[in-house]
Amino acid sequence: MILTVKTSTGAYDITLRRGALSNVGECINTEKRALIVTDSGVPAQYAETVGAQFENCIIKTIPQGEKSKNFDTYRELLEVLSENEFSRSDCVVAVGGGVVGDLSGFTASTYMRGIDFYNIPTTLLSQVDSSIGGKTAIDFGGYKNTVGAFYQPKAVIIDPDVLKTLSDRQFNNGLAESIKMAATSDAVLFDIIENEDAFEKIDTVIERSLKIKRAVVQEDEKELGLRRVLNFGHTAAHAIETATGLGDYLHGECVAIGMLAFSSPSVRERLKKVLCKYNLPFDLKFESDELLAALRHDKKADSKGVNTVFVNEIGSFEFRFLDFSELDIIVKEAFIK
Ligand SMILES: NC(=O)c1ccc[n+]([C@@H]2O[C@H](COP(=O)([O-])OP(=O)(O)OC[C@H]3O[C@@H](n4cnc5c(N)ncnc54)[C@H](O)[C@@H]3O)[C@@H](O)[C@H]2O)c1
Repeated sequence: MILTVKTSTGAYDITLRRGALSNVGECINTEKRALIVTDSGVPAQYAETVGAQFENCIIKTIPQGEKSKNFDTYRELLEVLSENEFSRSDCVVAVGGGVVGDLSGFTASTYMRGIDFYNIPTTLLSQVDSSIGGKTAIDFGGYKNTVGAFYQPKAVIIDPDVLKTLSDRQFNNGLAESIKMAATSDAVLFDIIENEDAFEKIDTVIERSLKIKRAVVQEDEKELGLRRVLNFGHTAAHAIETATGLGDYLHGECVAIGMLAFSSPSVRERLKKVLCKYNLPFDLKFESDELLAALRHDKKADSKGVNTVFVNEIGSFEFRFLDFSELDIIVKEAFIK
C-alpha cells in the first residue's frame, strides 16, 4: 500500500508492505551513494539487506539508545559524510527506530544545506509515528529535541516483518502511540486494538495510524494548531517523566498513563482495560500530588492552568484549558489509590 503525504515543500510516499526491505529500489534511486545509519540494537541484517541494494554505500552503526541522539553522534555522521566526500546528489538512509530516524534526518537536513533523506523505520513507534511529519532533532543541553529542523523525507518504507525481532515491551510502547491516535481520532481502530490481537492485526493498526498522522500533519505541518492533538497524554507524560527522573518508563509508557489524566470516566475505564491487555502501565508509582506539582511546572502551563487535549468519547477530542483546581480533581480521580 502506498500513502502520499503532501507538504509545503512537495510530496512523498509511504510504502507499507511486507518484504519491502528487500525491494527498496522500488522507492529509492539506489544508484545514489548512501550513508545508511542504524544502531547496535537493530539486527544488523536489516541495514545490510538495504545496503546490498545500493551500488555504493557506507553503513554506520551508532550505539543504541536515546543517549546517541546527541551532538557528538551528529558530528560523527557529518564527519563520515565529509571525509567520504558525499555530495548534494547523495543521500542518507535511516534503518532503525525514532532515535536513528531523528538523528539521521537532522544530519541530512544540515549537510550541504540539505541532502536527500529516506526513512526505513524498524520499531512500531517509528512506523506509526516518528517517521512521518518531518520532525528531526537531537537532544541538547539536557533537554529532548532542542536542536532540530522540519525536514521531510523523500520516501518512507515500512516493512512490518521487521517487528518480529522487536521486544514485547518495545512493541507495546509503540502501540501506546496508536492507542493515543485511536482514542482521539479513530473509534474503529480503538475497537480493533481493544477487541482483537494488535500483533496479529498489525498491518491494519499501522495503516490506520498512518492515515491519522498523515491527516494531522498535512493540515498543520509546523505544529501551529491541530497537530497538538498528537500531544494527547503527552502533557502528563512529560510530568511523569519529570517526576520519575526519566528512568523507569519508556516514553510510550508515560503517554499511556498520561492519557488517563485527560479523559472522561467512561473513556478512562476503556483505556485502562486496553493498557492492561498490552502490559502498559496505568497507575502512578508515586503520589498524584507529585504529578500535579510537575504539571504546574510544565512549559505549556501558565499561572492559572494547562492547555490539554481532552477525550470525552473515543474517536473525538477537544482542546480544553484546565485550571489548577480542575486539574487537581481530575488527576486525583484518575489515579485513586
Ligand atoms: N520525529 C518525531 O515526530 C518523533 C515522534 C515521536 C518520538 N520521536 C523520538 O523517537 C525516539 C524513540 O523512538 P523509538 O521508540 O523507536 O526508540 P529507539 O529508536 O531507541 O528504538 C528502541 C530500541 O529498539 C531497538 N530496535 C529497533 N528496531 C528493532 C527491531 N526491528 N528489532 C529489534 N530491536 C529493534 C533499538 O536498537 C533500540 O534499542 C525518541 O528519541 C523520541 O524523541 C520522534
